[in-house]
Amino acid sequence: MAKTPPRIGFLCGSLRKDSINQKLSKALQKKVKAAGVKTGEINLATYDLPLYHGDLKTPTGVKKLISRMKGFDGIIIVSPEYNGGLPPVLKNAIDWTSTVEMGHISGKVFGIASCSPGPMSGIMAMRQIQFIMMRLGADLVPAQTGCGLADKAFDKKGELTAQPASSFADKMIEQMLDRISTRG
Ligand SMILES: Cc1cc2nc3c(=O)[nH]c(=O)nc-3n(C[C@H](O)[C@H](O)[C@H](O)COP(=O)(O)O)c2cc1C
Repeated sequence: MAKTPPRIGFLCGSLRKDSINQKLSKALQKKVKAAGVKTGEINLATYDLPLYHGDLKTPTGVKKLISRMKGFDGIIIVSPEYNGGLPPVLKNAIDWTSTVEMGHISGKVFGIASCSPGPMSGIMAMRQIQFIMMRLGADLVPAQTGCGLADKAFDKKGELTAQPASSFADKMIEQMLDRISTRG
C-alpha cells in the first residue's frame, strides 16, 4: 500500500441531476470505500470552465481543478457517451487543464467507466477517453467498467448489481489499488 492511505477521486462527465453516470459513480465510490480507501468527488459543475478558446485568459477554476485532481492517487472518470464520443463538459475540462500543465494526468493512475441506457455501455466514449488520456500520459489500468441497460443495473440502494459490470468494476478498482500500492 502507499505510505499514506490512498485516495481515489471521481470525475463525472455528466452534470445532470438524475444522471445514470452520477449513479454509477456513486456505486463505484461505495465499492472503493468498501476496500478501505478514501474517496472524493471532482465535481466539474463547481469550477469556472467556460468553453475553451485560445484568446481567453485561464480562469482560476482551471488551476483549482488541477490542484483538486493532484490531490488524489488515482482518478476514475465516469462518463456518458454522446454521439459515439465523450461529452463536451469532459473534453473542455481536459483541454483547459492541459493548457496549463500535465501533472494532474501524466503518470497518475486512471480508470474509465461509462453507463448507458442502451446495451452498449458507452464503449465508444470509453475508447475515446482512453485514447486522449493515454496521449496525455495517464497510467490507465486495462480493466474498464462498461455498464449498459442502466435501468436494470442498480438495486434500490444504488449498488451496482448487474453483471458483468459489477465484476468489471471490482477488477478495475483492484488494478488501480495495485498500481498505487506499488508506487509506495
Ligand atoms: C447529445 C447526446 C448524444 C447521445 N449519444 C449517445 C450515444 O452515442 N450512445 C449512447 O449510448 N447514448 C447516447 N446518448 C444517450 C445518453 O447515453 C443518455 O442520455 C444518458 O442518460 C446520458 O448520461 P447521463 O444520464 O449520465 O447524463 C446521447 C445523449 C445525448 C444528449
